[in-house]
Amino acid sequence: MTWGYGTLASEVYELDKPIGHSFGDVEYYGRALAGTDGPVLEPAVGTGRILIPLLQAGLQVEGYDVSPHMLAICREHCAERGLDPVLSEAGLTTFTAPGRYAAVIVPAGSFALVAGRDAALMALGCFRDSLRPAGRLIVDVDAPGLLTGPPQAPVRHWRRGPFLWTLQTMATEHDRAANQVTWFGRYEKWQDGALIATELQLLRLQQWSLTEFTGLLTEAGFTGIEVTAAYEEGHPPGPGDSVWTFHARRA
Ligand SMILES: C[S@@+](CC[C@H](N)C(=O)[O-])C[C@H]1O[C@@H](n2cnc3c(N)ncnc32)[C@H](O)[C@@H]1O
Repeated sequence: MTWGYGTLASEVYELDKPIGHSFGDVEYYGRALAGTDGPVLEPAVGTGRILIPLLQAGLQVEGYDVSPHMLAICREHCAERGLDPVLSEAGLTTFTAPGRYAAVIVPAGSFALVAGRDAALMALGCFRDSLRPAGRLIVDVDAPGLLTGPPQAPVRHWRRGPFLWTLQTMATEHDRAANQVTWFGRYEKWQDGALIATELQLLRLQQWSLTEFTGLLTEAGFTGIEVTAAYEEGHPPGPGDSVWTFHARRA
């Protein structure tokens, strides 16, 4: 079971990583997609952190997400900017729009939220079916091991207006057999010293080696697989890199 991005987790995501906040990925995906002729799909679009800068760069990007709370924030940000992209509520292992997209992008480790090999192959199959022939998939994968480190602080906090949000990491479990990390986050929202809402988030993050993920892409019908690291073109994955970006084409 996973409890994903509820009301508080979505508000905190937006406070912590506002629209345009970049890990290097906003610019990297912008460069990778420049000149794309046709619609681009961002599965697990979240708040629109990366979708909105890509729309503003002139790309035709559409998105979906399983969390209505994340989507509501995304829609609000788009409307504030006069943007009206196609957004829908859907899941990574079920959404398909056969042959519609010139590219599918999955930045920022969202793919780790698909736990297990069967689900990963289903999600990659949905991306493949949604691409035009020779359409491009660009997907980030977190390097294994780095997810198990200690939280940035025992309790993090954010303020906006009269509200204070806190996030406490309660436990991180590592299932070495399944190569999965399970993360519990306890969110609290305070106003005038009183607790007004609380929420628990449980995320199960799947880790993949370079070889395993390359194998999955091949099995799912992708070719021309290339990997870069650290959001730098031509940078092969090395021991110190925390994020890999796989580029592949629908066969
Ligand atoms: C780390 S956020 C990334 C959001 C956005 N792509 C970005 O880069 O800022 C992960 C997103 O994946 C969504 N998500 C998780 N599991 C999903 C699933 N099975 N199907 C669709 N979306 C999912 C969450 O609701 C959340 O919005």
